Amino acid sequence: MAEIALHDVRKSFGDFTAVTSSTFTVKDGEFFVMLGPSGCGKTTTLRMIAGLELPTSGRILLDGEDVTFNRASKRDIAFVFQLFALYPHMSVRQNISFPLRTQRLPRREVRARTEEVAKMLQIDTILDRRVTGLAAGDRQRVALGRAIVRRAKAFLMDEPLGALDAAFRETMCEELRLLHERIGATTVYVTHDQIEAMAMADRICVMNRGEVLQIGAPMEVYERPATRFVAGFLGSPSMNFLTAEGGFAPGADAIRIEGARLAMPTAREGLACPEAIVGARPEHISIADDGALRGRVFAVEYMGARQLVTVETAAGRLRVRTPNTVRVATGETVGLAFDAERLVVFDPVSDRAVRSALFDHSGALA
Ligand SMILES: Nc1ncnc2c1ncn2[C@@H]1O[C@H](COP(=O)(O)OP(=O)(O)O)[C@@H](O)[C@H]1O
Ligand SMILES: [Mg+2]
Repeated sequence: MAEIALHDVRKSFGDFTAVTSSTFTVKDGEFFVMLGPSGCGKTTTLRMIAGLELPTSGRILLDGEDVTFNRASKRDIAFVFQLFALYPHMSVRQNISFPLRTQRLPRREVRARTEEVAKMLQIDTILDRRVTGLAAGDRQRVALGRAIVRRAKAFLMDEPLGALDAAFRETMCEELRLLHERIGATTVYVTHDQIEAMAMADRICVMNRGEVLQIGAPMEVYERPATRFVAGFLGSPSMNFLTAEGGFAPGADAIRIEGARLAMPTAREGLACPEAIVGARPEHISIADDGALRGRVFAVEYMGARQLVTVETAAGRLRVRTPNTVRVATGETVGLAFDAERLVVFDPVSDRAVRSALFDHSGALA
């Protein structure tokens, strides 16, 4: 059992604030991903949880116990550094058991735990082989085995797949997720890669400039982004942003963009804003003869089952994801229809979403 709670945790280096005020709870057994661009404060947050860095203010609780001032060695949290740096001259067994041997545990226990982990990872038949010469997949498992053999209360991982190529990363994401499902240990995983975050997280915590912007299940942060930054950071290609004329008011059943009227489900609630930005994901725009907005096809990129069509409109260059059965040619004029239910409206002043996608039936921001 390991629940990690941060209460108003702040970290400054001199007069620079790296983490503004983080308050969140990582639930027991959860795979919690901290996502954000480089320099947003992810590593600093993780190091504070590990006990490698002391917060400037705020408290950190592990299973309800205040560990803010406890040293790293007193926290029973495994910080997984450089997941893939194996010891080349050692065997699989020696690599996996290394963390236990440095703890000076009895030999018999080291042996039993190493074998148990190897079995779980299905590398128990190669325990006495050298790691050099092993297939890439087996090497990954050895690295994972070494990370989990300690049976820590929680695992902290800081961009562990950063240095790998795309294909290798994908299989490693799967392995990590499967392993998590088997051992169920609380994991805080840091990445700047939104695809990795979406694939692995139970919940994603999106950060920017030292601030936590939103925490939610992958689908929640993707479908109902709290801010324009979150909306733009998740999804590839990014959400399209269009300036709405006349802003937005609760009760509106449409929004105007470059003279085109986009009907949307009426929202009784929501916040009024005199200026508004409409966000539409590429998959929520389609090419339709009677589409509200018209534009000229600038580029068509085939991507297997889908294609990405870039259309120049009076409201800017929009990216549209369509099935590849939709026939479009560069230079052609097309109409664009918007999936009204999915539009998100942002207040450009606060950057916050004032009307989110997928309203509940009362029209309130659910
Ligand atoms: N020891 C330190 N001294 C001064 N500034 C630091 C220190 N550690 C991190 N920072 C700064 O804090 C910010 C957040 O860093 P970090 O947590 O490493 O970001 P991330 O992991 O999200 O890329 C960065 O601007 C970084 O330069
Ligand atoms: Mg970092």
